[in-house]
This record gives sequence, structure tokens and C-alpha cells, in this order.
Amino acid sequence: MSDSEQKNQSWGGRFTEPTDAFVERFTASVGFDYRFYNQDINGSIAHATMLAKVGVLSDQELTAITDGLEAVRADIEAGNFQWSVSLEDVHMNIEAALTERIGIAGKKLHTGRSRNDQVATDIRLYLRDQIDLIAKELARLQTGLLDLAEREADTIMPGFTHLQSAQPVTFGHHLLAWFEMLKRDASRLQDCRTRMNQSPLGAAALAGTTYPIDRAMTAELLGFDKPTENSLDSVSDRDFAIEFTAFASILMTHLSRASEELILWTSAQFGFIDLPDRFCTGSSIMPQKKNPDVPELVRGKTGRVNGHLVSLLTLMKSQPLAYNKDNQEDKEPLFDTVDTVMDCLRAFADMIPAIQARKENMYESARRGFSTATDLADYLVRKGTPFRDAHEVVGKSVAYGIKTGKDLSEMTLEELQQFSNTIEQDVFDVLTLEGSVAARNHIGGTAPDQVRAAVQRARAELKN
Ligand code: ARG
Repeated sequence: MSDSEQKNQSWGGRFTEPTDAFVERFTASVGFDYRFYNQDINGSIAHATMLAKVGVLSDQELTAITDGLEAVRADIEAGNFQWSVSLEDVHMNIEAALTERIGIAGKKLHTGRSRNDQVATDIRLYLRDQIDLIAKELARLQTGLLDLAEREADTIMPGFTHLQSAQPVTFGHHLLAWFEMLKRDASRLQDCRTRMNQSPLGAAALAGTTYPIDRAMTAELLGFDKPTENSLDSVSDRDFAIEFTAFASILMTHLSRASEELILWTSAQFGFIDLPDRFCTGSSIMPQKKNPDVPELVRGKTGRVNGHLVSLLTLMKSQPLAYNKDNQEDKEPLFDTVDTVMDCLRAFADMIPAIQARKENMYESARRGFSTATDLADYLVRKGTPFRDAHEVVGKSVAYGIKTGKDLSEMTLEELQQFSNTIEQDVFDVLTLEGSVAARNHIGGTAPDQVRAAVQRARAELKN
């Protein structure tokens, strides 16, 4: 064993004493970055393939490296790989295992490369894979929302502002509002993917390398759109991780809003929906309870994802060029964001199609809240009353309704005419909840026909 092998580390040559045991643990990342062993191996195979093409490695060396790396991958997958903290990270663990298997050729793999461009490559490859999985799960949720919206296109519920009954809407329309939020999230995710899909490989430690490397080739082999433009930037910035986590925070914020509504709606006080038992839990002390744990947890997990965004922003803040060890801290927040988002999307995608609308309760609640008051005002305006006067008339009608316990649609024509003699029999067409929603019949409006048309458009768009 040479000296440097004894001290084991790849930088051993310069050092006169081994790393302090605590420092070894403190600086190691293998406990979490082992996660992207696949991407690390793929990156190394691409790098070696390129080195062979430009004549830095022989064909035999390339074959030995490729076969060796595939054998290491198989070991890892079979659970036969010993990860070692003293080898610090996933990169050095895999390289050491390779060299142990194939000898000298293994030591040549790192020619023209640094862990700085290696990790920058791996993490982009990893995140790209995760983005594709997340995009799929998001689309599954969106599809579920569209199906439910179509099913509930005619279902009437109160629409709220300030959480006070405002105007009747259709449940389908409400669900499509959620859909739109998620549609923007999906497009933010793709934007992030496009911007990050450039290959940092070849930036080496920070300045590039003296070997005649072909960066376009490794970029293509790894499915990147092209090589990055600047080596210093390539190894140092983690803005793509920040951007992904920003996407995730906004998505979680949207899911938290939907969660909040689901939680309210399942309460006895609202009683708008039922969630199947499999998405709920009971109480160990109160036998009557059925708690909406799944949406509550999604709402709660929003906090941790927002926290990760702040972590990454703060991690990057004020870092001088180029690579700094600080960047090793990008991984745990990023991984946890990926896991949390995947779980929450899965929970929602499973739960949404199982929602049972309690239509009578929704309807009754809309009826009780004088939610067609605006319709009465609009009716008066159509008959020539100035809007401000109409507002006054309706205000008085509502006050009368509160006193007598009657909704506008339950008053007789004579009762309504106390407040304006412009009111005629046809007023009842607009005072019903059905008439109210059907009248908002334009793109983006709540009319059932518009909801159905919006679902069709959204389905077509989702397919592309
Ligand atoms: N484990 C390191 C990280 O995650 C890899 C890069 C280390 N580079 C270095 N010069 N120490 O950032």
C-alpha cells in the first residue's frame, strides 16, 4: 500500500497526518449523496467514453472502466456495496471500488475531471430524473381534477370571498381553479428543467482542463441540451436547485390551500364533502372523530418545503466564485423537497378522485347565504335602474330576508316589490341558484356549460 492509500484519501500525497475522525464524519456526504450513484456512474461512463474518443484512454481501458462501473452498479443495487465514510462521498466511494476491481485503469477515470464538475453534473442529472417523475405525478393529479370537475359541473355550492358566502358557483368550477394553479406549477417545473439541462462536465475544478476534451460529446451522451458556457459558473451555482425548490414551494402553497378547503369542507359545520375512510384516521379518545389527516399533513409539509427554499437561498448567498464546500449542503434540502413533493402529489392524486360531494349540503349552504343578491342587482340594472340604486334596493331586500328568515328566492313578488316596483315575475328566473350560475356563461365563468368546455380544453392541453 502506498502512503496515500493508507491514509486512503485521494489527496493523501500532500498530508502528513490523517483526517481527524470527527472531521471525517463532519465533512462526509456519502450518508446522503449515495442517492445519486446511478447518475454518478452514468456520468463517469460518458466521461470515459469521451476520453477514449479523444485518445486519452485506450479502448481496453474504456472497456475495463465501463464493465467495472456496471459491476459496481450491480453491487450497489444488490445491496452488496460497503459505503465508507472515510471515502467521503459517493464519487470517491465508487471510484475506489472501481479501482479495487480493475486496478490501474480505474485510477485514470478522473483524468480531466474534478469532483466539482462531477457533482454539478450528477445533481443536475438526478434532479432532471426527479423532475420527470414529479411531472408525471402532477399530471395524474390534474387528470383526476378534470374528471371530478366534469362530474361536478352542475353541482352548486357557495362561492366565497372573505370566507363569507358571495355568489353561487359550481363545484366543478372551484376544482378547475385548483387545476389552473397546478397548470402553472407544471409549466414552472418545465421551465426549470429546460434551464438546468446543460452539461457542466468539463469545467473540471473551476477553470477547465488541459486535456483535449469534447464537452459537446459528453453533453449529448448524458442527454443535456448543450455544455454550459462558463466553467467558474458551472461548478459554483446551485440556482437550479433553488429554482426547483421555488417551484416546489409554490406548488406546496397551492396544495396547502386546497388542503385547507378540504379540511373545512369535511367538517360537520360545512359538510360539503366526504373523504373515504382510507384517507382519514380516528381519535384514540373521541370515538366520533374522523380526521382529515392527509390534507392536514400536506398543509403542514408546506412549511418544511418553504424552509428548504430559504436554506438554499441562504446557502448560496454571498458565496464567492467558484466551488465552495458550502455547496455540499445543497443536497439534503433538495432531496427532502423532492421526497415531500412526490408524497404530497401522490396523496392528492389518490385522494381527489375519491372525493364524494354532499350536493344537498352545498346547495343548502349557497341558498342560505343570499348568494343571488348580485343577480337581483344585475336584474334591476337590466331594467334601467342605476347600479348604485339597485345595490340599495337589494340591500334592503336582504335586510328584510334576515329579519323574516327568507332567502330572496323564497319571497313573494309582493314582498320584493316593497323595495322596487321595477321587479316583475321574471325575477325568479335569476334568483334561483341554477339561474345565477347558468347566467355566468363566458370563458372563465362558472356556468356548467363553461365548466364542461374548460375541462375539454384542459384535457387537450394536458395531452400535449
Ligand atoms: N461531496 C462534495 C459536494 O457535495 C463533492 C465535491 C467536493 N469537491 C471538493 N473540492 N471538495 O459538494
